[in-house]
Formats: sequence, C-alpha cells, structure tokens
Amino acid sequence: MPNFRSFQANPLSGSLGAEIIGCDLSGELSNQLIDDIATAFRHFHMLCFRDQSLDLDAYRRVARLFGPFSGNPIHVALPGYPEFVRVIVEPHQGGPTFGGNWHTDLSWFEAPPKATMLYGEECPPYGGDTMFANLHLAWERLSPTLQNMVEGLVSIHSGYTTYGVNAAVRAIKVVDEGWEVSQTEVEHPLVPYHPETGRRFLFINPNVVRFKGMTETESRPIIEMLLKEATRMDTTCRLVWRAGSLAVWDNRCLLHHAIGDYPNFRRVMVRTTIAGDRLPAEARNAA
Ligand code: SIN
Repeated sequence: MPNFRSFQANPLSGSLGAEIIGCDLSGELSNQLIDDIATAFRHFHMLCFRDQSLDLDAYRRVARLFGPFSGNPIHVALPGYPEFVRVIVEPHQGGPTFGGNWHTDLSWFEAPPKATMLYGEECPPYGGDTMFANLHLAWERLSPTLQNMVEGLVSIHSGYTTYGVNAAVRAIKVVDEGWEVSQTEVEHPLVPYHPETGRRFLFINPNVVRFKGMTETESRPIIEMLLKEATRMDTTCRLVWRAGSLAVWDNRCLLHHAIGDYPNFRRVMVRTTIAGDRLPAEARNAA
C-alpha cells in the first residue's frame, strides 16, 4: 500500500476501497493532498473521506480535482448547480431503491463517466450502505480458457430501460420525457484497458443487451454468468455511510449497488459524475 502524507487510509476490504481520515476538503487543497488523493484513487478505486463539512461550492471544487462534469441527461439538477442532484429517501417512502442493483452509471455514453461522487448529508443510523465490486479482479479471476473465449467481445450497452427505471424511483426527479436515451445503443469492448492505468477490466453492466454479432438470446446467458462472476463476494467492499462522508469511485472498473434496507429512516445524498474517456480495446503504447 502506498504511503500518504496528507491523511490516513484504512482499507475497507482486501479487494478495493478505503476510508480516508484526517484531511479537510472544505478549504484550500495543498498540492501534497491533491497528489495523495490521485495516488489513493488509483490504488483503491473507491475513497470515502470521513468527517467532511462541504457546501455545494466546496463539493464542486473537490469534484473538479477529478475532472469536468460528465453531463447527466436524465436527472433534474439542483438550481444553480447543474452538475449536482440530490437523492432524497423519506421514511416509509417505499418503491424501488435508486441504484438498487449492481451497475455502473451512464455506460450508454460513448465515453462513460470516469467517476461518480456521493456526499452523505443525512444518513440512517444503520442500513443504507453501498456495495462496490472490483471489475479488474473479476477479469483477472476468470479462468484463462474463459478469458480467451470472451476477451474479443464487443458489448452493446443500451439506454432503453434507464429512463423508466429512474422515473419509477421516488428519490430522484427525472427530466421530462422525450429525449433520446430511449433510443441509445453504444458499443464498448467487453474487456477494455483502463484509460489511465492500462490494466484490463471486465466492463459488464445489466444494460448490456447483446454482444456484437450475436443475438440477445445467445448473449443473455453469457451476460448473466459474467455479472455473477463480477459480483462474487471476494471482489467487493461495503461502505457504511455517515453524514459528512464523501465517496468517490472509479465508475469504469467498479460496479456499485445501493442497499435499500432502511424503511424507517431518511437518507439524503448529493451526487455528481465526472467525465471520462472512450474505453480502449487496445493497449496504449508505453510512453
Ligand atoms: C447510485 O449512484 O447508484 C446510488 C448509490 C447509493 O445511493 O448508495
């Protein structure tokens, strides 16, 4: 594990994720802190900064360390803050949980977001955790024979169901209907190279409808099998939220899953996504 001069990093599991203690993100951010955050993000893929007190302007400054806003054609943004949405779950609200399945965000973009960020404004005393799964490990733990069978596949990611799923969730407001996500289909390699580190990962998501050159019927069992492999317990970590926690995770090489097990409590989170690059099918030449 790298050494950090600006904070303490406590790993959350043997597979990914760390809780970051002892730094304040609300004020000026030193170069050392910025370097440490970048190193920790590459190493752990998901960081949770504890005990923060961030208004939206401070949150925006931290978000810009990771890159520009990705855009979000589905959710209604906060007034004056087009990059942020507030996800509010009231006690006894019922209905489906926002993000309550294993997924990556907005994978039907040509360039899926690099990162998703979530800040806990109000968190249940227990329950409402978020799970993460490491897609590098998912790829590396497949047998060589299966790796050979699937590594050249091109996945078709669809936006078909995304609008409907989000519209059914009461925790978040969606924009008026009529926009094109319902038509969207985008191709990504099933096993891309990470745009920053070059490490391969299994880029599988429930919105993959088929593989290029195959029918949906042929593709479905392979998709199901890969999703099952990708979410094995030994590729995961579990984040327990507290108010004032800011999580940022790599949205390409991780799946995440919100757990809707807090019917009696309120949960309020502020969310944003950071722009990414296209996912390369070929290794980049070393500089
Ligand atoms: C999501 O971004 O999918 C929601 C995660 C959460 O609320 O825990």
